[in-house]
Order: sequence, then structure tokens, then C-alpha cells
Amino acid sequence: MNSFEHLESNVRYYCRRWPAVFTHSSGTSIWDEDGREYIDFFAGAGALSYGHNNPVFVELAVEHLRSGKLLHSLDTFTPEKRRFLDTINDVLLEPRHLDMVVQTVGPTGATAVEAALQLAQRLTGRRGVIGFTGGYHGMSYRAASISHSMSGRETSAHLGDFVALPYVEHLSEDDLELLETTLVAGIAGEPIGAIIVEPTQGEGGARPFDPAYLRALREVATRHGVLVIADEIQAGVGRTGPFFSFEGSGLDPDVICVSKSISGLGLPMALNLVRRSLDTWRPGEFTGTFRGNNLAFATSTAMLETYWRDEVLEKSTAEKGIVVRHALSELAEQFGAGQYSVRGNGLLCGLDVVDTARAAAISNGAFERGLIVECCGPGDTVVKILAPLVIDEATLNEGLSRLADAVAAAH
Ligand SMILES: Cc1ncc(COP(=O)(O)O)c(C=O)c1O
Repeated sequence: MNSFEHLESNVRYYCRRWPAVFTHSSGTSIWDEDGREYIDFFAGAGALSYGHNNPVFVELAVEHLRSGKLLHSLDTFTPEKRRFLDTINDVLLEPRHLDMVVQTVGPTGATAVEAALQLAQRLTGRRGVIGFTGGYHGMSYRAASISHSMSGRETSAHLGDFVALPYVEHLSEDDLELLETTLVAGIAGEPIGAIIVEPTQGEGGARPFDPAYLRALREVATRHGVLVIADEIQAGVGRTGPFFSFEGSGLDPDVICVSKSISGLGLPMALNLVRRSLDTWRPGEFTGTFRGNNLAFATSTAMLETYWRDEVLEKSTAEKGIVVRHALSELAEQFGAGQYSVRGNGLLCGLDVVDTARAAAISNGAFERGLIVECCGPGDTVVKILAPLVIDEATLNEGLSRLADAVAAAH
């Protein structure tokens, strides 16, 4: 029995899907102990949108590490944090007319979600939360309790004050009526304080909400005095094209949860953008030892400066998304007998093959062909494409060709 099987908890997961020992990575590739190269269409579950070991950020990080500058800083002042805050303001907030403040939290997405929920409860005095089918918000007890269960990853955390409304692909009158009646009724007698939505669902199967629903949701929430939390942990930081996946929809969130790719280099980092008028936290009311990762402030600033001062990346992500969806549509047509569907925006796309075992066979077959690709969605039937945004055309096409071979082999 090897060390992993003998010593690591049974909870281990991705290593079962990809049973190799990975040693190196660069850009859009990973290598294993035997020197085999894999194209990465998973990108650290969305934490590596800017590629593995992006040289710009690696250089900066090495210089930072050698310089004696702070690494661990909690929420004390540092020059790196000042520059990070100023850059967020210049590059993200002001151009989008977002009057928000930055709340750094412990380094996981789930912690950002926890903070957002606690703020909503504190402001409204109400515990009830509305989410959506297929929603995923993390594995801390509270975040798991508001995540809609997905096959194979059922959570035991049910606090009884959460309801999942159906995901809305195309807005209908019924959807709005259900939202209104749920807000009026509450959940098991518990009034609603927050609605949490991934404007484009990640784990739920690369599913964008109808923008008209997101717009209406804001209006209804305001009327009921309920906070709107946009969980942009997977779909944000450029994954769907724009920096935030809700851009252009008319959604105006009270809190935006950001994590995964925000450091640019895959360093653990999470934060919330909080509407200034709602930032009623008392000093130290929500703390965390590992909030304020000073190295991540530096690399995140570089990521924002490098990729978000112009629209080059946003446009190229949209174009690559079209290439991916076109390739997936061809596969759906060739193999799906009218049953398969393609969804997503930018480089958060998926092919729903309807059948759990077939989706797993495609992911396994892709791995055998040197491609890392994961399944998601209710029933894990969606083969999800989450390639790094910085992938070049040739590698993208090579990855899609390996995927096509895996799909063919699974039929
Ligand atoms: C939309 C969304 N929210 C929250 C999380 C939780 O983030 P973390 O795993 O860093 O706690 C995830 C993780 O996949 C996610 O996709």
C-alpha cells in the first residue's frame, strides 16, 4: 500500500480521478513523476485562471520572499496592501461605479461566504437564506448548509433555515412569484435575510442565470430589505469574460465574494467587496489569522495591473469561449442523439452528457489521453471546461481534440 492510501484520509478525491504524482507545472500544462505532460482544463478548480507558475507573478513572489518584506500581516498596514487596495479601486470599483469596501477574510472561499452571511444576519436580524438548486458555496458548516446537495458530495449540514429555489435559465412569471412568496413566507418560520446566487454556477454545471432574473432578483430583494450576495468565487476574476460574471446583467449586489484566482498565482486568498453603506462591522468582529496574505496582495496587484487595465484578456476569453462551445456543440451533435446540451460563458463551459457514468468515463478517458478535465452539475453529468484564461490557441485546440477522442471512446 502506498503512502497516500495508507496515510491520507478516505476523503481524498481528485487524486482518485487523476492517479498520478504531479511534480511540475507551467502555464497550461502539468507533468507527473514519469515526465508525462497533461493539458490542464481544470486549472485548480478555477484558482489558476492565470496559468500555473505565471512567470510575471513568480518573479515578483521570489523577489518578495528574498527581500525580507512581510509575508504574514493579518490586517495591519503594509505597502503591499495599500497598493492592492488602490489598484482594486482604480481597476475594478471606480470603472464599475461600485461604492464598496474590501473585507479581507481567511483564505478560503467558504470563509468569504460565512462573512457575507453573518453580515446579512447582523444587518437584517434574520437568519433565513435563499439559494438555488445546483448552488455551491463551500464546505464550512454554514456554507455547506446553504449549498444545494450534489451527488457524491452530500453534506450533512442542514440548519433548517435555507431553501434552494430552482435555477433559472429562462425567466418566467412563476419564478418571480416563487421568489416573492418565499420572501414573504420565510423558511420554517424563519424570515429571510439574504439571497445568495452564483450569477454563473460553477459546480452546478457551468450554468449562467437569465440576466433578466438577476435584475428582477435585485429589485425584489430591495423591496423586502434582503441582502443580495453574489458568489463570484468560481465565475469571477475573468473566468466568464468580464471580471465579474454578473456584469451587464443589471445585478447590483450588496456583497461580492471573491477568491480562487484573485491572487493570480494560486495563493490562498479570499475577500468580500461590501457595499460601503452596509459595512457596519464593529472592529475585529470578523477576524481570521490568515487574512491579509501580504505575498498574495503583491501578486494580486500584479495580476490586476497586467490583465485588467485594458480589455485584451476579457475579449480573448470571450473568443476562446466561442471556440470551446463550438467544439462542444459538434460533440453534442455527433454523439448526443439530441440529448446533450452545451452551456456556459467564456471559459466556464460544459457539455452535459446526461449520464453520470458516461461523464466519468469521458473524464477518465481524457486523463489517459493527457488532459485534465472534471465533471460537475447535478448528478455530475456535465464535463466542465475550466482551462486557464491565458491558454494559447494551439494548446486549446489540442486539448479539445483530446477531449473529442475521449468522448468518442466513451460511446
Ligand atoms: C462558487 C463557489 N463558492 C464557494 C466555494 C468555496 O471555496 P473554497 O473551496 O475555497 O472554500 C467554491 C469552491 O469551489 C465555489 O465554486
